[in-house]
This record gives sequence, structure tokens and C-alpha cells, in this order.
Amino acid sequence: MSTQVPETETETEPEPEPEPEAESEATDAPEAEDQDFGAETRRRAQAALEKADRTVELKVFRYDPEVPEKEEPRFDTFTVPFKKGMTVLDALMWARDSYDSSLTFRHSCRQAVCGSDALFVNGSQCLGCKTQVADLADKGIPKTVRIEPLPHAEVVKDLVVDLEHFYDQMEAVEPYFQDEDLPSGLNEQRQTRENREKIKMSTRCIWCSACMSSCNIAAGDNQYLGPAAINKAYRFAMDDREGEDLKEHRLNIIEQEHGVWRCQTQFSCTEVCPKDIPLTEHIQELKREAVKKNLKFW
Ligand code: SF4
Ligand code: FES
Repeated sequence: MSTQVPETETETEPEPEPEPEAESEATDAPEAEDQDFGAETRRRAQAALEKADRTVELKVFRYDPEVPEKEEPRFDTFTVPFKKGMTVLDALMWARDSYDSSLTFRHSCRQAVCGSDALFVNGSQCLGCKTQVADLADKGIPKTVRIEPLPHAEVVKDLVVDLEHFYDQMEAVEPYFQDEDLPSGLNEQRQTRENREKIKMSTRCIWCSACMSSCNIAAGDNQYLGPAAINKAYRFAMDDREGEDLKEHRLNIIEQEHGVWRCQTQFSCTEVCPKDIPLTEHIQELKREAVKKNLKFW
């Protein structure tokens, strides 16, 4: 499903505490504990909001195909106390823990390493854990932060998208070292300093899929390998240790109909990559290598 929906907003506030029932008996212990936990959470959220110098409003895309009343896409607004140093992921976690435990998004490392929390924030792809809320606003004072799932991917629930297609494209370029000439015994397989320098940036990919989501070509051509997969092909094609035959094999893969020649040098992938990989540059270099391979007199 697409995230391009008319905005229907739901203001989400900490729910009022239920009135204590007179003479009610706690017959179900776990449920009673849950209620206590919920009430305590709401009390803490309210107190934090009252104490906060500043707050920020998160407008968060919501969609759950498994719950009839939530299968119509909408935006929920959560007010979150803003602290300097807070990331978009921190703010989302606060909203989830304080207002709605069903708010769904991926995250793991919280330090731009695992690549699981790529989101579409204020109209741009980024990692939630690497994006400071303050950086999204003029003069560091945030007002509203709009958070959506990555465009051009199927939404599974709320901010979670299906990355199966992205992984298939990565897999298509055989993203693993293949050696024709393994050294014997315990001998190391050395790489020159210069060659390591050449491929250094391409090795930084964390498979977040932000680049693929930002690419207009990938949006229009579902079979396009995409910037991340081509960068992965670059990482191995340019590694001197694999040898010329494997390099040719890799160039054949990226030269296919939906490979490098689809790229129109729009730089959107390079702009959003959270690891600063010069993706467009790598794609252009592979184009040059492919041409050289095909020119017999080169
Ligand atoms: S190339 Fe950059 S944007 Fe693309 S998947 Fe890798 S880390 Fe993410
Ligand atoms: S949580 Fe791992 S990259 Fe953001």
C-alpha cells in the first residue's frame, strides 16, 4: 500500500485514568497489574510533559491491515517532551512507551550500524537513530516532525516496510567474496593499501535501503538493481584479490538490462545514504569499467 494518503489526523493524548471502581475485587491478578502499569505510565508521561521546557509534535503514519478500525491509513499526532540530543528514534520510542504500545517501527543498534530504522522524515530518507530532532527545525527548535515509512516499498504495519525485494536485488549481485586462488594453509590473503583505500567507502553499506527508496528509477522500474546492490557489486568488482575472471563476471551482472545503464545520475541515493557512500560515483565508475571491457581494442 502507498503512503500517499490524504491526511486524517488523530490527536493522541495520554488516556485519562479509569475511575477506580468502588468495592471492586481484583479477581484477575495479571490484568490488575497491567492496569496499574498503564496508569503509572500515563502518570509519568503527563508529568514529563508538564515539566518539559519544550515539546515536539510527531505526526506519525499509522496503518494496520489486521485490525479493522486501523486498516484505513492515517496520521496520529503525539506530543513528546523535547530534549537536546534527542533523536527521531528516541522520540518515537517515547511516544510508543507513553501513548500507544502498538506503534510499530524497527530498530536495534541505535548507533547507525544495523540499518534497521530507515524512515521517511520530513520528506527525506534517513536513519531515525542518526537524525537529531533539533536538526529538523529552524534554530534548533522543533515544532512538527512528520514520520512515514520508506516510500516505494510495501507497508507491513505503521512504519515497517517489506524489504524482501531490496534483499533480492542485493542477493542478485552475489554480495560475497569469491576467490579463485585461495592461499594455502594459514597464509593471509593480503590486499594492497591502495586497493583497500579504493573500496573503503563501498564496504560501509548497512543495507538500510534508504538509497533504493529515494531512487526515482527504482520507483519506476521494479527490476532495477538499485544503488545499494550496484555499490555492493562495485565493492567486489574493484577488489583486486578476486581476479580478472570474477571481475568480468561481476561486470556482466551489472551490465544487464536493469543494471547500471538505468541510472540517470540524479544523486538522490548519494544524498540520503547515512554512511556517506559516494553511490553515484561508484555507479559511474562501473559504467566506465563495463565500457572498457566491451571495447576490444582497449
Ligand atoms: S548504500 Fe547507503 S543508503 Fe543504500 S543501503 Fe547502503 S547504507 Fe543504506
Ligand atoms: S537502530 Fe540500527 S541503524 Fe538505527
